[in-house]
Amino acid sequence: MKEKLAIGVLVSGSGSNLQAVIDSIEAGKLDATVKIVVSNRTEAYALERAAKHGIETVVIDHRAYDSRTGFEQALIDTFRSRSVQLVVMAGFMRILSEHFLGAFPMKVLNIHPALLPSFKGMHAQEQAFDYGVKFSGCTVHFADPGVDSGPIIIQSVVPVLPDDTADILRERILREEHRIYPQAIQFYAEGRIEISGRNVRVRGQKPLSDTAVCNPPTEGM
Ligand code: GRF
Repeated sequence: MKEKLAIGVLVSGSGSNLQAVIDSIEAGKLDATVKIVVSNRTEAYALERAAKHGIETVVIDHRAYDSRTGFEQALIDTFRSRSVQLVVMAGFMRILSEHFLGAFPMKVLNIHPALLPSFKGMHAQEQAFDYGVKFSGCTVHFADPGVDSGPIIIQSVVPVLPDDTADILRERILREEHRIYPQAIQFYAEGRIEISGRNVRVRGQKPLSDTAVCNPPTEGM
């Protein structure tokens, strides 16, 4: 019986991506175990989601530390003491520096609700909607010291429809986040992720059509 990948999850808010990971594990689709959920905010609903599934939680409030390094060392110690093999940032609203990332080299994942490198940072869904894109989507990537700039593992493309609002688009993207995040973690758990510089490949990935998609649809062209 293969050991399940031990993951630690960093949250700050609702935790719907955490919930998607938990649900995938409990459905037998994700060969992982959530060892601990760490939030920098006491009021994060993600903590309740974890507790409902008997998962250990801890609040490590960044404001309780007089330095970023001190805060990040507390995170590192917490994950190491639970033998965490992969750190999953799920709606975590703090930037992690080289100090933390150096403790978990290429072992930290993040999800961003846009097609990186477009629309980095906060409110990415609204940025894309306001820009008038015809496609947006979401990205799972390795965290690096930049903002939403690490090597990309998987992306899902989501069309923007004529009657959309920013909220409708956000919900459509969020549904896709909940699919691709567990999938990215499963690829990692299976040891199928190969990294070469910025390029990430998944060994044995299923074939994908090279047919382009237009929005709005072309009419006979
Ligand atoms: C999601 O869109 C995520 O991509 C972004 O924050 C939103 C809420 O995440 N970082 P969650 O529900 O807390 O997982």
